[in-house]
Amino acid sequence: AAPCRAQCRSRQHRAAWPGGCRPSSPPPPAVPVRVSAPRLTESGLSMVDWHLVKEMKPPRTQQEWEAEFQKYQQFPEFKILNHDMTLPEFKFIWYMEYSHRMWGRAVGLAYLLPAAYFWHRGCLSPPLKGRVLALCALVCFQGLLGWYMVKSGLEEKPDSYDIPRVSQYRLAAHLGSALVLYSASLWTGLSLLLPLHKLPETKQLLRLRQYAHGTTALIFLTALSGAFVAGLDAGLVYNSFPKMGERWIPDDLLAFSPVLRNIFENPTTVQFDHRILGIASITAVTALYFFSRKIPLPRRTRMAVTSLLAVACMQVGLGISTLLLYVPTPVAATHQSGSLALLSMALWLMSELRRVPK
Ligand code: HEM
Repeated sequence: AAPCRAQCRSRQHRAAWPGGCRPSSPPPPAVPVRVSAPRLTESGLSMVDWHLVKEMKPPRTQQEWEAEFQKYQQFPEFKILNHDMTLPEFKFIWYMEYSHRMWGRAVGLAYLLPAAYFWHRGCLSPPLKGRVLALCALVCFQGLLGWYMVKSGLEEKPDSYDIPRVSQYRLAAHLGSALVLYSASLWTGLSLLLPLHKLPETKQLLRLRQYAHGTTALIFLTALSGAFVAGLDAGLVYNSFPKMGERWIPDDLLAFSPVLRNIFENPTTVQFDHRILGIASITAVTALYFFSRKIPLPRRTRMAVTSLLAVACMQVGLGISTLLLYVPTPVAATHQSGSLALLSMALWLMSELRRVPK
C-alpha cells in the first residue's frame, strides 16, 4: 500500500473522483441538475420499462421504433396528453429520457469503478471505507428511486382525466436523495481538501457555527419543498409576487380536508410554503452575514459567507422570475441549479467553521 499511498497523495488523483483515494471533489453539479431536464421537457415517462443492461441499446430499425412507440401508447400519458404525437416527436422525448438514464449509469460508474480500484489497491483508510461504501450505496439507491418515481407516472388512474404526472412524494424523495448524495460527496471532499482554521472557541464563534448549521438545514428544506412545487405544477397557480393574486394569504390555502393534506397536495399551499421557506432562507442568510461581521474570521471564511449571501439573493431572484414568467424551462432549470449552488456555499461555510479535533 505504500507506493499506492504516495500515488494517492498526488493532486490529480485526489481531485479526480468523488469518493476517491482521498475523496476530494464533489460529483459534477450536472448530476442533480440533469435530473430536471426530463421533467421540464415532459419526456420522463417516454420509456415505460426498466432494464439495467438491455435498455442501453436503443431501438435501431423502423420496426423496433414502432414497437417501442406502441408500448408507450398503452400508457396514460399518451392516451390523455399526447394522443396526436408522431413517431419523430416520440423519438425526441424518448432520447431525452434515454440520455438521462445513461447519464445516471455514467454517474454510478464514476462512483463504483474508482471505489473498487482504490479499495483493491489498499488506498482507503478504515473510516474512508465506510464513507465510500455509503456513497456507493446511495448512488445505487438513487437509481432505484428514479424508477420507483417514474412508475408512479405510468399507473392507470381510473376516473382521472388529469395530466399524468409522477407522484410529488416520490419526486421529492428522488430529489431529496440526490441532494443528500451531493452534499455527502461535497462534504467528504471539502473536509479532506480544506485545511482547518484554528479559531479561538469563543461564545460568538459557537453561535455562528450553530447559525450556519441551522441555515443549511433551512436551505435543504426549502429545496425539498421546491420538489413539491415542481411535482404538482404549483408554479402555475399564482403567478404574482409578493402577493398571491390580490391577497397575502390566498382563500384556498386550506381548501383540502383533512388540513394536513394541504401541505403536500394543495398546489396553493405548496407554493405558499415554498415562498415562505425561500424568504426565511434569505432572511437567515442575511442575518448570518451581519452576525459574522462582528467576529474576526479568516479571509477564506469571509469569502464563504459573502458568496453564500450573493448566491442566496440570486436564487430568490430566480425563484421569483420563474414564478412571474410562468415557469419557462431555462429559468426553472437555472433555479434548480441555483439551489445546488446555494447548498454548496452553505456546506463550504460549515466546513470553514469546523472544530479542530482535540
Ligand atoms: C432559498 C431559496 C430557494 C430555494 C433553495 C429553492 C429551490 C427550489 C427547488 C429545488 C425547486 C425544484 C426545481 C425542480 O425540481 O425543477 C424549486 C422550484 C420552484 N421554486 Fe424555488 N427555491 C427558492 C426560493 C424560491 C422563491 C422565493 C420563489 C418564488 C417566490 C420560488 C419559486 C419556485 C417555483 C415557481 C418553482 C417551480 C418550478 C418548476 O415547476 O420547475 N423559489 N425551488
